[in-house]
Amino acid sequence: MASITIRNLDDEVKELLRRLAAENDRSMEEQARVMIRAAVEGQLGSAGRIDQIEQTLRELASARALATPAVVGKIPPRGLSGKRILLIIGGGIAAYKALDLIRRLRERGAAVRVVMTSAAQEFVTTLSAGALSADHVFTELFDRNDEHDVGHIRLSREADLLVVAPATADLMAKLANGHANDLASTVLIATDKPVLMAPAMNPRMWTHPATRRNRATLQKDGVTFVGPARGEMAESNEAGEGRMAEPLEIVAAIEALLDVGPKPLSGRKIIVTSGPTHEPIDPVRYIANRSSGKQGHAIAAALARLGADVHLVSGPVGIADPAGVKTIHVERAQEMRDAVEQLLPADAAVFVAAVADWRTENSAGEKIKKVAGEGPPVLRMVENPDILAGVGHHSQRPGLVIGFAAETQDLLRNAEAKLKKKGADLIVANDVSQGSGVGSSGVMGGDRNRVRIVSKAGVEEWPEMSKDDVAARLAALIAERLKTIVV
Ligand code: CTP
Repeated sequence: MASITIRNLDDEVKELLRRLAAENDRSMEEQARVMIRAAVEGQLGSAGRIDQIEQTLRELASARALATPAVVGKIPPRGLSGKRILLIIGGGIAAYKALDLIRRLRERGAAVRVVMTSAAQEFVTTLSAGALSADHVFTELFDRNDEHDVGHIRLSREADLLVVAPATADLMAKLANGHANDLASTVLIATDKPVLMAPAMNPRMWTHPATRRNRATLQKDGVTFVGPARGEMAESNEAGEGRMAEPLEIVAAIEALLDVGPKPLSGRKIIVTSGPTHEPIDPVRYIANRSSGKQGHAIAAALARLGADVHLVSGPVGIADPAGVKTIHVERAQEMRDAVEQLLPADAAVFVAAVADWRTENSAGEKIKKVAGEGPPVLRMVENPDILAGVGHHSQRPGLVIGFAAETQDLLRNAEAKLKKKGADLIVANDVSQGSGVGSSGVMGGDRNRVRIVSKAGVEEWPEMSKDDVAARLAALIAERLKTIVV
């Protein structure tokens, strides 16, 4: 192997070597040699090139700097112990973040095996990925040694989860259309394990109809996506949706898929209402509202992921029942109230449903006909039960009662009034006006939300985020609050 002159390395790389050497009680030269030997085995043969080795050390240094405990805050729990992740690194500038992802996964106890496309090797070296994963890096479909030792079928099966990060437009297109012309695409199509993709590409490529089509196909086929996020691109003057999710976000998605996250809500029963209600006028007509159920269903799913026994009472919606949740389907506000009351007692209840305030006094038994000369019918309305207020003042009131306040004006004043009147502990207030500036289609029916948490203690403003993120954060808040409530 070529000799290494430590003096010629960058300060940053030297610092890394110094720390690692001290940790392992070795000289810096010896430390460099051990790391490189581990990485080089089977990759470069005996003629390792010093420029490649230096690049590797630099990549290792930046991956390490990103993951120092000072940045992380505390040493993460080893929640992925025993899990095997096959990480497919696609070609893109975000590939360097995949190196940090390997570190994050390994410090949580996961075994990581890496496949790199040829484009990925233009951005990061197999040496870095090999050193960080402490395993051979696979690159070729027709490599006599690789195929003999492991083979693409075993590679794809000997994992609990396949993660593609960065997932390029090309890798998405290949899997969506069933191509298998290199190791990465072949492994993806040969697997019987869940697949998580973290896309990263230029915003125009991400919004191109072909990519959107491929994404929809992949989602239908059961592939899960994390990101991309909005932000500045590597190219100057390019911004938009297309940045790869951060390594810790990818780790969170992996933990969710493998269901290994913490379960602070296990043993807790939580009721959630979601969606609109339909109040019949006659057997074919009804009064409704624009609620999609997306936020309420996301909250039910997030609570279930934290281990809660979740009972979702859903009005008529066009989305699927969330996984791991017991869903009761209702149409009218009175049915929703009855279902909720039958579920009491509970530890907490979250009222997300957009319940119709009024119903017709009597719904007609037969379809109301147009009668010439009689004009339109007059609908007499009566008030529906307020389900939240009923539970907020119930003799079996859960320890934590949370309501939503969908407002188009005077958001905070109305939210504070609802907190008092309905006997809630928290009100999640959101501006549902068309001009709220949230997402492209507003809050109702859209995928994004911006909320404020109103309680007796004051108002906490959360930034705009996806409804899934609002749900995850609210679930964490509920877990925190319930810690102090003894059953
Ligand atoms: N809510 C309920 N039952 C109702 C009406 C509302 O449980 N009949 C709950 C909602 O699920 C939400 C909260 O009360 O958690 C506030 O709902 P919202 O529609 O914002 O308020 P309303 O009480 O209907 O008042 P208004 O329509 O006048 O704003």
